[in-house]
Amino acid sequence: MNVMIPIRPNVLRMQPYSPGKPIDEVKRELGLDRVVKLASNENPFGPSPKAIAAVKTAAEKMHIYPDGAAYDLKSALSRHLGIPATNLMVGNGSDELIHMIGLILMGEESDEMIMGDPSFSRYDPAAQLSPSRLIKVPLDAEYRHDLTAMAKATTENTKLIWIANPNNPTGTIVRKPEFDQFLKDIPENVVVVLDEAYFEFADGVADFPNSRDYVLDGKNVIGLRTFSKAYGLAGIRLGYGFGPDEIIDAINRVREPFNVNCLAQLAGIAALEDEEHVRKTVENNRRGIQFLAGAFEKLGAKPCESFANFIYADLGRPARPVFQALLERGVITRPGDVLGNPNCLRVSVGTEEEMQIFVEQLEIVMNAAVTN
Ligand SMILES: Cc1ncc(COP(=O)(O)O)c(C=O)c1O
Repeated sequence: MNVMIPIRPNVLRMQPYSPGKPIDEVKRELGLDRVVKLASNENPFGPSPKAIAAVKTAAEKMHIYPDGAAYDLKSALSRHLGIPATNLMVGNGSDELIHMIGLILMGEESDEMIMGDPSFSRYDPAAQLSPSRLIKVPLDAEYRHDLTAMAKATTENTKLIWIANPNNPTGTIVRKPEFDQFLKDIPENVVVVLDEAYFEFADGVADFPNSRDYVLDGKNVIGLRTFSKAYGLAGIRLGYGFGPDEIIDAINRVREPFNVNCLAQLAGIAALEDEEHVRKTVENNRRGIQFLAGAFEKLGAKPCESFANFIYADLGRPARPVFQALLERGVITRPGDVLGNPNCLRVSVGTEEEMQIFVEQLEIVMNAAVTN
């Protein structure tokens, strides 16, 4: 029977998320024994052993609802960041916080939201859940956010602007002088999100505009971070953010009562304590980015300057066949056609061995493509 189901038109303009392929699926479909996944910017060293131990202990208490206010986790984050706990929010991954920021700010048909193109695909639904307008501003020639063009695109209807810094999928950053100018160029009431999912990899880079400083300075800025990348907790889903009181208050009104589960809360606290694990991860990443950039350049590709745990390279030809050939050889990457640039390939930093395998296979695939 064909019944008319009244799905909201806004929902029908949204696209389901297209994730990186899971290892088991690739093994099954292609009959491969060894598969290396460099597609989702995960931590190649896994979680901190301290987080694993915390989760094992917490598992015994999982019949009890978690602390809905996440008091201990927020206290630990507050100490870690030097930000009052009352200005913090935590979510089931920063994905959830992105979703809720859209819910609290976007509503009317006239409301406008601005983001870079390409940038993180989960920003789109923040506007699409309501009838509001989504405006995408192309990145500049170096695949960086074009803050001048984004400021020009801002109108009196603009409610929300997203800047992933470092940007996903390109790994590029905006610097402090240009960001300060940007804040001067836009109306004060526009909320600017600095999504710093890859913060730990960019921390310490000269002129990196740390969202924390802007929040403490009382600017209309939200900082977003995650435990999924440098902390290696992608599977347990834990993200956090900080911002003005009004934003935190609004998030608390719309969020589900127990949005961060008890295992995630304790894993996060333990992971924060393991600074050595993050240091090791960041150090491996620095070497990995250099190695991958060098390998791409040797093959005539143009890698973006990356400050994240992945690299985005323009292959100078459609990347989909290269992605497919790599997949058949047991290496999962991400093709740029789903990310915004059909000639680009995104690859995450892995262990030394994983990256060696990737580069060997890439050389074979790229050189075969030239010969054919
Ligand atoms: C820029 C950016 N923001 C947010 C996220 C979401 O992270 P989480 O795993 O915390 O939901 C990602 C994940 O890839 C990302 O790249």
